[in-house]
Amino acid sequence: MTPEAESPLHVIVTAGPTREYIDPVRYLSNESSGTMGFAIARAAVACGYRVTLIAGPVHQTTPEGVERVDVVSALDMLGAMEKHFPSADAIFMAAAVGDFRPKELLAGKWKKKEEGGSGAILELVENPDLLATIAAGKGHRKVIAFALETSDGEARAAAKLVRKNADYIVLNGAAALNAASSTVTLIDAGGTVWTAEDQSKDETAAALVDLLEA
Ligand code: CTP
Repeated sequence: MTPEAESPLHVIVTAGPTREYIDPVRYLSNESSGTMGFAIARAAVACGYRVTLIAGPVHQTTPEGVERVDVVSALDMLGAMEKHFPSADAIFMAAAVGDFRPKELLAGKWKKKEEGGSGAILELVENPDLLATIAAGKGHRKVIAFALETSDGEARAAAKLVRKNADYIVLNGAAALNAASSTVTLIDAGGTVWTAEDQSKDETAAALVDLLEA
């Protein structure tokens, strides 16, 4: 279907970090700024697609024409994905999802020092793999995952492609976090499709949205 057709492709983009609260004022999170996901949402809406942007806590302006759903934790993000994925044609999973969350959410501040001792142990439980969970039953939907790797990037990303039932995986180095540009490698089941050195996130976003035309 062309973007100009009456019923445009529905594209889901996830962006930013997730935040896993320990108590009312402390949380576990990561450095993701959401820049890549918001750039994809802008590029997709510019192509005439219907875009649902599921965003963790970020300081980013909502692109005009995009439906934004704000979430906090990985489980919140999964809930939003499960709600919107059935009507979608594609998902770009650019969010940096926290792999673990505190086992308990404390109602009041964690008064660890009052318990004595010089250290603290926070018990964590694993979050589900959001993408693997929804992509297991993806049907016709196109699934584009991301991977941030610091070593053995291509091999690790290729393994994630299979594990998460993705059609493509976009490999970044740690330098991509919070940066305006990055070196990215696009991988599919056949191996490396292309590598772009030091490319702006807007250029990468446009190249990734082009994948939907195929
Ligand atoms: N992802 C997800 N749910 C998670 C973790 C990751 O959906 N709990 C998605 C990310 O949004 C990304 C892809 O899976 O599209 C790869 O994320 P990454 O953090 O690189 O992978 P992990 O499976 O968490 O592996 P690692 O142990 O290397 O962190």
